[in-house]
Amino acid sequence: MPGTSSGFAPFEYIEEETNELVGFDVDLAVDAIERAGYEAGDWVDIEFDSLIPSLTEGDIDLIAAAMTITDDRDEQIDFTDPYYEADQAVLVREDDIDPAEFADLEGRPVGAQSGTTGEVTVEEELVSPGLIDGDAARSYGNYVFAVNDLESGNVDAVVVDTPVAETFAGDRPVRVAFVFETGERYGLGLRDGDDRVGDINDALTEIQEDGTYDDLVSEYFE
Ligand code: ARG
Repeated sequence: MPGTSSGFAPFEYIEEETNELVGFDVDLAVDAIERAGYEAGDWVDIEFDSLIPSLTEGDIDLIAAAMTITDDRDEQIDFTDPYYEADQAVLVREDDIDPAEFADLEGRPVGAQSGTTGEVTVEEELVSPGLIDGDAARSYGNYVFAVNDLESGNVDAVVVDTPVAETFAGDRPVRVAFVFETGERYGLGLRDGDDRVGDINDALTEIQEDGTYDDLVSEYFE
């Protein structure tokens, strides 16, 4: 049973008309699981910071959630080969401040999704250097709520992965002020020692080589 955390378009989101979970990760993961000879089963859609505990406890068998491969996470679970690269972007209101670097956000409330590398970036670049107080770093269960709060003025910036920032900027009155290069790479997550990782890596390679990957990119990133 695969798990994800929606509200992260174009990787995983709920399509309004059908109320269905869709996205680049959803299609990619199902294809990889099936090519590897397994059944995908029903998706579980939960908060991002519950994904690793749910995987290790056996409630889900695979994470497909634009999850960055980090040392911390790699100690708890196994990752497939990377399938996508991203950096962090700083989103602001369309007609508001125009920060060029983190120092320009001094004293301002900033949001990110709980448990993400966006949240780590806020911590490392804003809170630790003393640019903002710990309570000005706002955590959200879902980036959609973070961007709602940005629109309504409760926070002045949101730190989120670049492709998702661009999607929000296309749909709402927000824009990318600057990009902070983190060079993150996403992997699918499996339980530590799950021997299906090899088969799923082979499937991912096949998906890339036969053009399916590029088809998914054009379907979800335009
Ligand atoms: N790539 C970032 C991370 O791994 C953010 C992922 C958030 N994913 C999601 N489905 N909400 O921390």
